[in-house]
Amino acid sequence: MTLRKAGGNWVDGDQFFDRDAELEALTERVKDGTHTLLTAQRRMGKTSLVRELLRRLKSEGCFETIFVDLEGARTPADAIAEIGVRSKSVQGVQHKLKSWLANTFQGVVDRVDTLSVSEVQVKLRAGIDAGNWQQKGDEVFAALAENEQPVVLAIDELPILVNRLLKGDDYCITPERKQAVDEFLSWLRKNGQEHRSRVCLILSGSVSLEPILQQAGLSAHANIFSPFDLKPWDDETATACLMALAATYDLDFSPDICKNMCRRLRCQIPHHVQQFFDNLHEHLRRADRREASLEDVDRVYTTEMLGVRGQMDLEHYESRLRMVLGDKSYPAALDILTEAAVNDGLLHSDAINQYYEYFQAESDPVSIKDILSVLEHDGYLVRKGEDYRFVSGLLEAWWHARHGRYFVPIACR
Ligand SMILES: Nc1ncnc2c1ncn2[C@@H]1O[C@H](COP(=O)(O)OP(=O)(O)OP(=O)(O)O)[C@@H](O)[C@H]1O
Ligand SMILES: [Mg+2]
Repeated sequence: MTLRKAGGNWVDGDQFFDRDAELEALTERVKDGTHTLLTAQRRMGKTSLVRELLRRLKSEGCFETIFVDLEGARTPADAIAEIGVRSKSVQGVQHKLKSWLANTFQGVVDRVDTLSVSEVQVKLRAGIDAGNWQQKGDEVFAALAENEQPVVLAIDELPILVNRLLKGDDYCITPERKQAVDEFLSWLRKNGQEHRSRVCLILSGSVSLEPILQQAGLSAHANIFSPFDLKPWDDETATACLMALAATYDLDFSPDICKNMCRRLRCQIPHHVQQFFDNLHEHLRRADRREASLEDVDRVYTTEMLGVRGQMDLEHYESRLRMVLGDKSYPAALDILTEAAVNDGLLHSDAINQYYEYFQAESDPVSIKDILSVLEHDGYLVRKGEDYRFVSGLLEAWWHARHGRYFVPIACR
């Protein structure tokens, strides 16, 4: 098989590598009608796995598949409009959309299938509001359930919407906002249960849903979803990926080269493996060589991967973290991660206790427990007894390079 390099976005088809066991397990779940909550740390390939699964299911011809991205949604009404418009290829939904649009625009819209997705979206959104989104959402689900083939509905970035609903722009959890999350997730749960055998849901997101629901005291809403934790590649698989990419681009990588690359990454997150390959490929191209040496790997790692451009990815990590934690807890999370990064990746329990006391002294203290829960769920840190440790060697090195220079450890403050 020819494996092509990935761009920055999700991959499928000839850019997609491995994950056979995961695809098989998810296919089985879909056939059993089990709703799934796909979890993993950032850049593990969640979106790609779901996209590839849908591609394969669709080509086998037994399922209708729909992919919805809620990253831009700010309200339940936005979410329903997005689900509706992405489902417009399903005949029953198309009829529904047509009648809604005809009502809203007094018959001006007669052919939904000839309109672009964004045209339908704008028109549709105009007719969905805080008072009718549940009813419209129920109608979309009912129409999906009536489809000849069962439907797999994948919803990506649902946690981002839930986080927005819960915290607003000022990052303040109010009873009204909790109620809004409660209503939205109750609606999703109700439809998931009612149409279980006809509409199979797969939820995923670049941030974890569980810590957000925990903060809202609404963890029970995730009950109908069976968790599926996507793991990093092992060294063997990452090596096979690197070798396959090298073969496609006519490069010569020895097993030692791949071993060295894997050792530096420590945790084989597919995106980091791809980034490493891409940087090495560009480096060799500039040097007009095919064969990579250990010096090349070293140079590319320190100057490219850890350099300014390599670290651009870290901004994406940081913005997601800030979004979940809010402006108040986010600096404490930076402190905690940097504390670990400058201490060879280890966050000692003594340091955690010192942070606890340090922040406790503030008038409105941040919760170190909540911060650690997010950092653990989102895969930055893993618990080792009473201590925590950075999971990824690359992330640890990035963090050290970016924040370590002027950092004062908590014990010295
Ligand atoms: N199965 C795969 N084969 C090859 N490359 C992959 C695979 N899965 C992920 N990647 C690489 O990782 C990158 C990120 O993939 P993807 O967007 O699916 O991850 P994600 O877990 O959804 O990320 P985020 O946490 O930002 O939502 C891709 O651009 C690609 O480089
Ligand atoms: Mg994703």
